Amino acid sequence: MEFSAEARLIHTGTARAIGSPVGPALTLTSTYVSHGVHDPSLPAYGRNTNPGWQDVEHALAVIEGEGCQAVVFSSGQAAAMALMLTLSEGRERLVMLDDGYYKLRNLATKLRPHGVEVVTVDLLDLDAVETAIGAGPSVLWGETPTNPLLRVADLAGLSALADAAGTPFVVDNTVATALQQKPLEFGALASVYSLTKSLSGHSDVLGGAVVTRSAELAESLRAWRGTGGAILGPFESWLVLRGLKTLPLRLERQSQNALAVVEFLERHPRVTAVHYPDGPLVKTQMPNGAGCLLAFELSGTVADADAVVAAARLIVPSTSFGGVESTWERRARWAAETAPDTLIRIGTGVEPAADIIADLSQALRA
Ligand SMILES: Cc1ncc(COP(=O)(O)O)c(C=O)c1O
Repeated sequence: MEFSAEARLIHTGTARAIGSPVGPALTLTSTYVSHGVHDPSLPAYGRNTNPGWQDVEHALAVIEGEGCQAVVFSSGQAAAMALMLTLSEGRERLVMLDDGYYKLRNLATKLRPHGVEVVTVDLLDLDAVETAIGAGPSVLWGETPTNPLLRVADLAGLSALADAAGTPFVVDNTVATALQQKPLEFGALASVYSLTKSLSGHSDVLGGAVVTRSAELAESLRAWRGTGGAILGPFESWLVLRGLKTLPLRLERQSQNALAVVEFLERHPRVTAVHYPDGPLVKTQMPNGAGCLLAFELSGTVADADAVVAAARLIVPSTSFGGVESTWERRARWAAETAPDTLIRIGTGVEPAADIIADLSQALRA
């Protein structure tokens, strides 16, 4: 009998022998007893393995789908860096979206001195993508829905173009998570995640991961991690695993809350635009809901938008999203962010929707 991915996710790390602790073990060690010629299948040093991160990797692979392997890192950026470094070897160009999480574009430009040209493109424009990846050996880097504009790219269409050009296609799936979108099923080589957001879900830990069916890619990523040292520590792994177990419940509630907030904002006289994944593509690509992240644009000035954010009494003014508590921020307060000046991004938490809307309503009077 095969249990569902959700059931297997919840039971990851739980032993069943009589007398075993039900809570997953926390193994705090930097080194392991070993001597003689090293046997690579045995643990020897904490930069190469820890039982805690193995459990997280198992859980992430289970929700991504059959035959997947996950490799965890110390943050989403660290996971992206290892993936960019691995895939850009022998390729000249990193073709990536021109919106999305701005720090990933920052990261990509750091590869320039090492011979990788970064080309940005609108991922929703398939002709432009085809031209960009056809101009030389490339890697195609996607993100959908994007942070913070929540634009949705056509994963099947992009995969087909990438396949035809012999281009590895990877997708930042942080906003949706594998429970709400499975890029590998649409043909992507790998999904990359910040575990810091919905996957861990409690705003208490940073982490990252790459999930793939390619044993070769997973092996190179492990080699980058073991050599570069961007490991997920044992306690961080334990926190991520603990958070992951409630992912299905949190996502369901957060997605419902996001829809309720979108509906409220669409009718608000101070709001000029609301961004949330919608339309026929979303229904096929994200059949289980569209996640906790949304954004809206406010009429008026930057100071007006800042005053609204500061006036919240429940929603926490802070960056990041995906935690159990609702958070918001004016995105363009970050110097390199390209979002419109008065765009406010919200990550809905798991509070009752009526409380979030009551707080929004009073803050929008500021
Ligand atoms: C879509 C996306 N990808 C990657 C990252 C980077 O993750 P981390 O902050 O864990 O390094 C973020 C962080 O906000 C993000 O929003």
